[in-house]
Amino acid sequence: MVLSDERQPAEPLSARLKNATREEHERTESAPFVAALLDGRLHRDAYTALLGQSYLFYRVLEEAGEAWRGDAVVGPFVSDDLVRCGALEADLEWLAGPGWREGLDPLPATRRYADRLRAVCFDSASAFLAHHYTRYLGDLSGGQIIRRRLRSVYDLTTDGVRFYVFDRVAKPKLFKDRYRELLDGLPWDAHEQENLLAEANEAFRLNRGVFDDLGKALEVGWTGSRSA
Ligand code: HEM
Repeated sequence: MVLSDERQPAEPLSARLKNATREEHERTESAPFVAALLDGRLHRDAYTALLGQSYLFYRVLEEAGEAWRGDAVVGPFVSDDLVRCGALEADLEWLAGPGWREGLDPLPATRRYADRLRAVCFDSASAFLAHHYTRYLGDLSGGQIIRRRLRSVYDLTTDGVRFYVFDRVAKPKLFKDRYRELLDGLPWDAHEQENLLAEANEAFRLNRGVFDDLGKALEVGWTGSRSA
């Protein structure tokens, strides 16, 4: 039998995506800011600053989600069960008070991240999905580890950590399995698949940039959290 060059790789796309981003994932999860946060070495305001910066890029990601909601191919990935902006707003209000929006400025890396989301996510379905995957599957995975640490180290249980609580996702594992099935069923050619993998790696790097900037900004103070 002659196999055409157009044949799909044997490895499912979900596994390719996980493998292709493994190195960037490892670098991102071991960013010094993340380690310090999980060790409880940071002031709670640093965590608030992380949420503030997250709000600035989630706003763009979720705006893109709305734009793709009705799309036959990536629309099924867009789910109300995932949206985080409302939870971020509630957390920020609780942590930083009703004036939390005042002075919430993007760090340079957050601006780069939001600019990248705006540049690619509204035109390219695979780029949108790369960013969607990197954040939401991460929030449903490592995010749950972070949530447990925030509970034990910073004594945050519900208020202030709603961002990590997906109360409409009863079983994250099943949700992630379903997400991977959707990934494996995508009708994309090799070029579009490669774009997904490359942009997901970019998404990890952009996230790491935010952690690095937060780490630096802690030396100088204000990054959107209430001053002590
Ligand atoms: C405290 C830091 C982190 C820890 C401990 C952590 C840990 C984990 C673990 C254990 C998994 C595997 C879950 C599973 O197989 O179901 C996972 C998956 C994942 N994480 Fe993280 N993570 C962290 C940070 C991040 C960050 C910052 C991002 C992205 C911004 C991220 C993105 C992802 C993604 C996309 C997956 C899904 C991989 C896949 O199954 O395709 N993680 N993480």
